[in-house]
Amino acid sequence: MTSGVAGETPMARRKLIAGNWKMHGRSADLVWAERLSGLLGRAPGSEILVFPPATLRAPMASRVPGFVAVGGQDCAAETEGARTGDISASMLADLGARYVITGHSERRRLHGESDGLVRAKSEAALKAGLTPVICVGETLDQRKAGEAEAVVLRQVFASVPEAAAGRVIIAYEPVWAIGTGLHASPEDADRMHRAIREAWRSGDGDQLRILYGGSVNPGNAAGLLSREHIDGALVGGASLDPDSFAAIIRAGG
Ligand code: 13P
Repeated sequence: MTSGVAGETPMARRKLIAGNWKMHGRSADLVWAERLSGLLGRAPGSEILVFPPATLRAPMASRVPGFVAVGGQDCAAETEGARTGDISASMLADLGARYVITGHSERRRLHGESDGLVRAKSEAALKAGLTPVICVGETLDQRKAGEAEAVVLRQVFASVPEAAAGRVIIAYEPVWAIGTGLHASPEDADRMHRAIREAWRSGDGDQLRILYGGSVNPGNAAGLLSREHIDGALVGGASLDPDSFAAIIRAGG
């Protein structure tokens, strides 16, 4: 067991609440930034991050309050080249991004991204000075077969580059919980996060931030975020509504 004293979150593990807009949002939706700012007032105790679609990244960054970071939803493994439609990590960094999601299950499933590709993308992010938010998670069939932990740890070993714990973030997003209204119980999620932390090989697992994602909403956020090993949330649908997202942020303390 490598985590810190129960009830005491190390500074390096400040809570992080992130919103992943996926392929949602038009320019008219940027009013979200001012509404969230109005709802929160001053900077909350947690770190706040939003991942809008690439088309809205720059205008969103100019509208959110200074305490909200704006990241990319994906990046290429290469720096530049003949790759129509792709965006490199260094291009995101050039526009001021500090975070990028890699290995989201939707990209693994819909775009056939392997653990090896996710690792290469995450390495590219690190090289560009970004913090990759690397997603892992089991399917319902894998959970039913009692393989959830083995699958997730295998994904962590194969998709996460060797790096100091403070340089990467892992998001545990069980596939069956994404967009379904079903969420892992706080106990189950905490157990998985603890298993990931304990399996972390560099010996600094107590500094590794592990977010939970999958149907997080204002009703279940406090229960999840109060757990020792749950360092934040990666919120999909509920992040599109500023009221819901602000409520989840408040639940993080
Ligand atoms: P939902 O919160 O809509 O289930 O999405 C979770 C997710 O995939 C965040 O990356």
